[in-house]
Amino acid sequence: MSKRLEGKVIVITGAAMGLGQATAMEAAKEGAKLALVDLKEDALEQAKQELKAKYPDAEVLTVTADVSDEGAVKKYVDETVKAYGRIDGFYNNAGIEGKQALIPDYDVDMFKKVIDINLLGVYYGLRYVIPVMQKHNYGRIVNTASVGGIRGVINQVPYVASKHAVSGMTKNAALEFARSGIVTNAIAPGAILTPMVAGSFKQVNPEDPQKAEAEFAQGNPTKRLGKPEEVARVVVFLLSEDCSYVNGQTIAIDGGQSNTYGFV
Ligand SMILES: NC(=O)c1ccc[n+]([C@@H]2O[C@H](COP(=O)([O-])OP(=O)(O)OC[C@H]3O[C@@H](n4cnc5c(N)ncnc54)[C@H](O)[C@@H]3O)[C@@H](O)[C@H]2O)c1
Repeated sequence: MSKRLEGKVIVITGAAMGLGQATAMEAAKEGAKLALVDLKEDALEQAKQELKAKYPDAEVLTVTADVSDEGAVKKYVDETVKAYGRIDGFYNNAGIEGKQALIPDYDVDMFKKVIDINLLGVYYGLRYVIPVMQKHNYGRIVNTASVGGIRGVINQVPYVASKHAVSGMTKNAALEFARSGIVTNAIAPGAILTPMVAGSFKQVNPEDPQKAEAEFAQGNPTKRLGKPEEVARVVVFLLSEDCSYVNGQTIAIDGGQSNTYGFV
């Protein structure tokens, strides 16, 4: 079978760990040329080394950037175009959870930080990547929303607000640029075992995060959490040519948990 991303230039933000790193691995397996972007320079370099160890022929550009800084977003897009000449796929993924608290107690500076990264960071990415894709009339964009982008999540008000916004921006991009051959979708992962989710269980139960994890898994129809590679395989489909008529959707990858009403 031919590789699904053979020769495609794919930009991934938040690529140093978690869902971004898993998707970089899966995309390399499928023949992509990669531009990996992250805030954390050392972790990004480490992710590149791990990828090259498994896929020595993969072309990998790394760019350290904060996605909430518009100038830095322009720079990672410019550097990608300089290196590869085009962008075919964009996994607009970097995001943070923020600190957990009820609405009246939520720290306003943290609220703004979550919005800056999760909402404006995704917007800046769209703002600079779409014109590059328009030049060659082709593009696949995948924004990372969350089940928190289709449901409420207690104690996570800016996260939920930002992820609903990501789902909304996805619909707009889908309407505005399909005529340029660019399809845009979002994913809504449930609880997937990444460093971010491990941190979340530490916030829920600092003494016994594993207990918090086990309790959360009980509420899932599959009785387990998801694995990053289970998300990565869906993202690779959404980044591939096969995804030509799915546009503007927010696709839950959550073992069915967002369908529950009551106990499972
Ligand atoms: N893991 C889950 O269960 C889950 C569920 C729903 C949504 N998500 C979303 O998926 C995305 C990835 O989450 P994850 O679980 O892999 O998180 P993670 O914390 O494990 O990895 C996120 C990566 O993004 C980078 N990053 C953070 N802020 C950045 C910034 N301002 N600029 C550039 N890079 C930045 C981090 O350095 C890190 O490498 C996020 O948008 C998150 O909200 C995750």
